Order: sequence, then structure tokens, then C-alpha cells
Amino acid sequence: MSSTAPSYDATQTPVAVIGGTGYLGAAIARRLARAGAPVIIGSRDAAKAAAAAATLAAECGRPIGSGTNADAARAADIVILTVPFASQEATLRDIAGVVTGKIVVDTTVPLMPPKVMRVQLPEEGSAAVRAQRILEEALRADGAPGDGVRMTSAFHNVAAHKLATDDPVDCDVLVFGDERAAREAVLRLVDLCGLRGLHGGALANSAAAEALTSVLIFVNKTYAADGAGLRITGGLTPPAAG
Ligand SMILES: NC(=O)c1ccc[n+]([C@@H]2O[C@H](COP(=O)([O-])OP(=O)(O)OC[C@H]3O[C@@H](n4cnc5c(N)ncnc54)[C@H](OP(=O)(O)O)[C@@H]3O)[C@@H](O)[C@H]2O)c1
Repeated sequence: MSSTAPSYDATQTPVAVIGGTGYLGAAIARRLARAGAPVIIGSRDAAKAAAAAATLAAECGRPIGSGTNADAARAADIVILTVPFASQEATLRDIAGVVTGKIVVDTTVPLMPPKVMRVQLPEEGSAAVRAQRILEEALRADGAPGDGVRMTSAFHNVAAHKLATDDPVDCDVLVFGDERAAREAVLRLVDLCGLRGLHGGALANSAAAEALTSVLIFVNKTYAADGAGLRITGGLTPPAAG
């Protein structure tokens, strides 16, 4: 970790879940909150976020933050984006002004209905690289340097309905990003969610996990599987501290 990078304690770092009212976002928010992390649920509609936060707070027995997507992102150090691909750009433009220097975790799989079992990556190569471009463009348009974005991506291959339970989820989570310290902060969140996270390398490598989701949807259909997952095998030795 570089000397300038903040050191994140996963149980102390405020995490905003943008679109935290949806399937994947609510499941991640619930797992993080139940593990003790300070969670802020974001929505386009503050009242909808407050309702979701109240339900989670009742379950956890402690307050859960909420607000519009921009307010939630402003209040957090790590911002997890969990909205459909079709709304990725609008949502990122909405929060761009408040995520400079923060770690952004994009979970977007570029599914293009109705052909969700076919890999259809965007022209940037992946939804994660597209997210980085959108944020950089938005920042530059505001006269800010575009290089303040700490973009990562993760959670592409986890079925939300499995993450929404208390049961172990039989899959690994690959974490991508060009900055190792940012990936490590996200790996700590994955760990809090009760899953094994693994470094997946550069942000551009996110294309592989994003593409695999269409393959997993195909496998689900072909083999009547309930949320097929991905496991990396081979006796992995944890990497030396960076
Ligand atoms: N579901 C999964 O199993 C799964 C697994 C891996 C990755 N992912 C990825 O995670 C992301 C979220 O998936 P999801 O299944 O959780 O989606 P979702 O439930 O359909 O939507 C998530 C949230 O996004 C917001 N949203 C929906 N439509 C929108 C629009 N047109 N414009 C702006 N915001 C909109 C909504 O929040 P508000 O109405 O509160 O603003 C909604 O609650 C996707 O990119 C998906 O590819 C999903």
C-alpha cells in the first residue's frame, strides 16, 4: 500500500451502496451491515433508501444510513455501484462530483436483454473500464483532474439471491483494479460478506468476470442450476503484502 493511500478498516470504513434498494445492492448491504460495517444505502429516491435502511436497521439492531445516491456517496469512503447496465452512466454522472479520491466498486455486468446468455461487452472492453471513463469525463467536464478515480470492480459472478441469505455462498469473488491498495480494501469487504475474494488484476481484466456471468446464466438454464458460481482452484498461496 502506498504511503498516501488511506488504510481501510473494513469494519469502520463507511460504505455506500448505490442502488442499495435492489437485488444485489441490498444483499451486499445486508451482509456488510450484519458484519458490523457502517453502511449507507443510496437510491434515486431518498424515501425508498430510508425504508430499505429502516428494515436493515431493525434486523441489525443499529442505525443504517440512507440518502439519495449522491448523498450516500458523499458520506462514504468506499462506494459500491449496484445498478443495471442501462443506468450505469446516469448514476455515475450523478455521483461523479463526490467520489474523487474514493474507491468505487463497480458490480455492473453489461447484460443487454433479451440476449443475456450471450457475452456483449461494451466498446470500452468492459463495464468497469466504461465506468472509469464516465467518471473521468465527468470530472474533467467540471474542471477537476480526471485521474482521481480509484476504480475497482467485483461481485460479477455472485447470485444476489444467494448472497441475500445467511448461508455460505459457494463461489469466489474476483476483484479488479489498477491500484493494488484499492483492490485490497475491496477484498476486505468481500471477506466481511463471508466470501473468498481474490485479486483478479488490472481493471481491464474485469471483462473476463463480466463475460463469465452470461456463461453462468447459460449454465443455469442448461443444467437447471440455482445460481452456478465460479471457484478458482490450484492451492493458492496468499500474496506477500504490497
Ligand atoms: N442480481 C444479481 O444476481 C447480480 C449478480 C452480479 C452482478 N449484478 C449486477 O449488479 C447490478 C444490479 O443488479 P440488480 O439485479 O441488483 O438490479 P436491480 O435490482 O434491477 O436494480 C438495482 C437498483 O438500481 C436502481 N435502478 C433500477 N433501474 C434504474 C434506472 N433505470 N435508472 C437508475 N437506477 C435504476 C434501483 O434503485 P432505486 O430505484 O432505489 O434508485 C434498483 O433498486 C447490475 O449491473 C447487475 O448486472 C447483479
